[in-house]
Amino acid sequence: MNPFNYGTIVKGDNFYDRKEECKRIVRVLSGGNNIVLYAPRRFGKTSLVFKAMEELEKKGFICVYFDFMPVFSLESFVRLYSKALAKKQANLQKFVQTFASLIKNIRPVLTFGHDGKPEFSIDFMGGKIDETTVSQLLDLPEKIAGFRKRVLVFLDEFQDVEKLEKINFEALLRSKIQQQEKTNYLFLGSKTHILKELFNSKKKAFYNAAFQMTIIGLPKVDTMEYLRRKFAESNIVINDEEALYIISVTSNIPHYIQLLSSEIWQYMINTSKTVTKEIIDKCINLLIELKSDYYIELFDKQSRSKKQLLQALIKNGENIFSTAYIRTNNLSGAATIQRAISGLILEGIVEKTNSEYFITDPFFKLFIEKNT
Ligand SMILES: Nc1ncnc2c1ncn2[C@@H]1O[C@H](COP(=O)(O)OP(=O)(O)OP(=O)(O)O)[C@@H](O)[C@H]1O
Ligand SMILES: [Mg+2]
Repeated sequence: MNPFNYGTIVKGDNFYDRKEECKRIVRVLSGGNNIVLYAPRRFGKTSLVFKAMEELEKKGFICVYFDFMPVFSLESFVRLYSKALAKKQANLQKFVQTFASLIKNIRPVLTFGHDGKPEFSIDFMGGKIDETTVSQLLDLPEKIAGFRKRVLVFLDEFQDVEKLEKINFEALLRSKIQQQEKTNYLFLGSKTHILKELFNSKKKAFYNAAFQMTIIGLPKVDTMEYLRRKFAESNIVINDEEALYIISVTSNIPHYIQLLSSEIWQYMINTSKTVTKEIIDKCINLLIELKSDYYIELFDKQSRSKKQLLQALIKNGENIFSTAYIRTNNLSGAATIQRAISGLILEGIVEKTNSEYFITDPFFKLFIEKNT
């Protein structure tokens, strides 16, 4: 079995580091405060939050995880959020009663599968789902808390809350958060600019509603140790220099470290026993090759100014509006850069951490470097 995992939430032995971040989440939520956690895509937000949930559940909190990504309408929100709340209930029968007493025009349904396990679903009974229904549903966490427990709700891909603007969902949720005494929230997502706007702008509903938190790449020494340990399980040796090379070509993004390592493992198993730079380069090329059609199309469809900016970002992503940057990279001017960068961020091709812009997919970055 390949010891490297990507594209899924990593748990147990496959999850390393993030101890401080995990402690902070546990501390802030236990203390009755809310958190907004933002970081670029594939840095390990969801995995971290699952780790924190494990710890918090051990402490007796009821943790509810909800992902806004698959939400496409008010109905789908209601259906999915109800299910997410039901999932953590030890006593579904009681939950159904609470649900029925609180939410008027939806019928909770309890069925039993072949294995005898109860399953929760809802029936809209042909009724209209409106702000009142959603408001009642948002009261449910506080109700399931009961007398002694506290509930923690984790809202993933929270930037997608915009999909529910039809009913002014943001203001509604904010008012619930203010009223609820036994429920706290952790909002997380990758569209940093949208989340920052939601939580920092005085005009927005969530202004000052949560303690802000971000995560960066995993510490290099911990990744080196992890790679050494994981490769060693298959009797493969990786030295510091090669481990650092993997970290550097993947821009130290956790997902891509695992992706490249997985490819290297696959390539080496049953043949060589020591990871070399040549093997790493071979695997990088294989990964780029696999996506080359997509990369070619993605690059070709960009405007001239975006292409130029992407080429400049490969070398450096800091102070991109400065005269020096414009001159060195032969760009036309700050206004053009502003337009190009906004477009690239919107498409998810570029992201920004504190002061630096970077190409999200390190293999796309390498593709541009090699081919254009
Ligand atoms: N602490 C960790 N230990 C080991 N691998 C990790 C860790 N955090 C993240 N990864 C790697 O990164 C991948 C992405 O993690 P995760 O889905 O948690 O990130 P995310 O920030 O929620 O991503 P997205 O923005 O796509 O939702 C994982 O599948 C795993 O390969
Ligand atoms: Mg995630």
